[in-house]
Amino acid sequence: MFRKILLISILLVVNHLILFADEGMWIPALLGKYRLADMQAKGLRLSAEDIYCVNQASLKDAVCLFGGGCTAGVISDKGLVITNHHCGYGSIQDHSSPEHDYLTDGYWAMSRDEELINKGLTVSFLVRMEDVTAKVLAGVTPAMTETEREKAISKAIAEITRAATEGTSYSASVKPFYYGNEFYLFITLVYTDVRLVGAPPSGIGKFGGDTDNWMWPRHTGDFSLFRIYADANNNPAPYSVSNVPYRPAKSLMISLKGVKKDDFTFVYGYPAQTQEYITSYAAGMLSGTSDLNKVKLRQKILDIMDDAINQNSDLRIRYSAKAAGIANGWKKWMGEMNGLRRLSTIEKKKSFENEFTKWVNSDQERVRQYGHLLGDLKAAYDELTPYSKARDYINEAAYQVEILRFARNFTSLADLVKKNAQDDVIAAEIKRLKDECHAYFKDYDKETDQKLFTALLGMYYDDVELRFRPALLDKKYRNGFSSYAVELYSKSIFVSEERVIAFLSGFKRSSAKKIIRDPAYLLYQGFAEMYDKNIRSHYEELTRKILALNRIWMKAQMEMQPEKEFYPDANQTLRIAYGKVSNYSPRDAVQYSYLTTLSGIMEKDDPSVYDYHVPEKLKVLYKNNDFGKYGEQGDIPVCFLAADHTSGGNSGSPVMDADGRLIGINFDRNWEGTMSDVEYDASMCRNIVLDIRYALFIIDKFAGADYLVREMNIYNP
Ligand code: ARG
Ligand code: GLU
Repeated sequence: MFRKILLISILLVVNHLILFADEGMWIPALLGKYRLADMQAKGLRLSAEDIYCVNQASLKDAVCLFGGGCTAGVISDKGLVITNHHCGYGSIQDHSSPEHDYLTDGYWAMSRDEELINKGLTVSFLVRMEDVTAKVLAGVTPAMTETEREKAISKAIAEITRAATEGTSYSASVKPFYYGNEFYLFITLVYTDVRLVGAPPSGIGKFGGDTDNWMWPRHTGDFSLFRIYADANNNPAPYSVSNVPYRPAKSLMISLKGVKKDDFTFVYGYPAQTQEYITSYAAGMLSGTSDLNKVKLRQKILDIMDDAINQNSDLRIRYSAKAAGIANGWKKWMGEMNGLRRLSTIEKKKSFENEFTKWVNSDQERVRQYGHLLGDLKAAYDELTPYSKARDYINEAAYQVEILRFARNFTSLADLVKKNAQDDVIAAEIKRLKDECHAYFKDYDKETDQKLFTALLGMYYDDVELRFRPALLDKKYRNGFSSYAVELYSKSIFVSEERVIAFLSGFKRSSAKKIIRDPAYLLYQGFAEMYDKNIRSHYEELTRKILALNRIWMKAQMEMQPEKEFYPDANQTLRIAYGKVSNYSPRDAVQYSYLTTLSGIMEKDDPSVYDYHVPEKLKVLYKNNDFGKYGEQGDIPVCFLAADHTSGGNSGSPVMDADGRLIGINFDRNWEGTMSDVEYDASMCRNIVLDIRYALFIIDKFAGADYLVREMNIYNP
């Protein structure tokens, strides 16, 4: 035991003096100030201005936030962008039906006219970012309460974003960094006409499916192509036939040179959320409560959805995107729990907290400022944990039952009637609901949902404390919820498109009571009311308190370790991560090498397993060695590993070489490394990258869409 503690403390000291190699997600505008020298020492041959500059075109102009949470890279002067297949998945699915199954078969526009329009899909480019900490905090005084402080900050932010966008087509936001110790302004251009150009069949784009997801060795051709359109002045405009392809300030040069072990790489993209500086208490709640419960619930959901998916192709289309989303978190959280345990993260954090306490106690002023901090944080997390658990169950159990979520949608209509709203307002709401209805039922199956209902509410009942149980659940419990389910799914109007459309078409003010009395609506209401009564205010108060304490905790850590360079936690702002192309060893005696190939796809080919169906045409190209200019040593490289510190949101991020040329598209991490959102481990954490040569090979040789390759800038030494 003593030796373990000693080892941990040594590790801790090392960890906190220098950052381990390759850890960190850095702010591009500050590279010149803090990371450039290290990047150049490790191989980078670019200047800070090549990567981020506001006065001239730089690589940042070729990177965009894609949709709500992915990244994409611009690869032609005609607005062509490449992102992951799983990032384009929703759009590809929207255009799919059993007759045109673009998910299974892929889709390739052979000319501009064949590109497909995507309602609601946007990409956004960063115009510039600016440190606005002083302005945001100008009206904040130490005497303020948290609420007063928040108000002052919101007011300042509203003014800053207003001034930054007035009279322009820009959007702007201000985001907190280091838990609100710093603030940055982001000015962006958001394009709203983004069309689907190409997607490989799922036998390529999702090859390996959820079996291989988060895993190495990996052979997924996880990419899709879109094109951004703009008005005649190259400005954002809603879809119109007269729009023209967007002309980017910068598009990426694609390198066919390929990668070798230890080559320098960097990833440019939008990681969403990490929490590297949290306390042992927060890490304990994360792995011991949230990850644990969410994994358990999702396991159940997946069992039920997988049954449906394996029944027939209709159900497969309806449920595969939903199941993929559920499976993704499920597997990641499992990896995270294992990783945190393996690294003894909680113990390490505890010993750091002990060091911190010593540091505090050695100085009276520090005792005054920070003496209570850890105790307060511990108490707050202890208090928060049961509420947080109940919330997880509401979101991951109750609201995973689709009928309850769908019923919730009708609250506004019922409210409008209650408030005696004007006829046209009510008519508009009815139209909105009708419009949503079709898309919703396209992917809905009553039998599957009913199974989810019975199973998930059963788990809710068994696992969640009585005080967080809606009264209706108690009332309907009969050794489980199957008879309740039968009753609810036969009586509710929310089970089929016909019923809902008929209801909405004949809607009169007096119909509102049908919503309120609908059994699915009643149960949804039961959860909502219980949440409002027993959870909301406690939860919000505690998270607000924790946020404020974490702000001080972050500041204190920075004060205690003035020599350490702290990168800010990911917050869906543009970042740079860099590292080398690297092998790794997942466990004793096992070595993984950094590159996979088309031969490996042929090895995995298994007609009896859906995830491993290799498309016939790919087999033919392989047999004939028909690799064009994309091959290397009689094979095609497919994916490679690097040690870039990435997270969710980095999907679709361009991965560049030392000269800033595009060598791959980031799409995943190894599951032994998913704890890097909390603790990065240089020996184990790898990002998984699609080799750009495989993408080009598929576009050119497999799809025959060589006109796309011809519009790209290709470097082929
Ligand atoms: N794990 C990757 C990410 O977090 C890919 C997810 C999509 N693929 C899948 N098989 N579910 O987004
Ligand atoms: N697939 C992830 C995404 O959608 C990237 C993997 C990760 O979490 O690193 O962003």
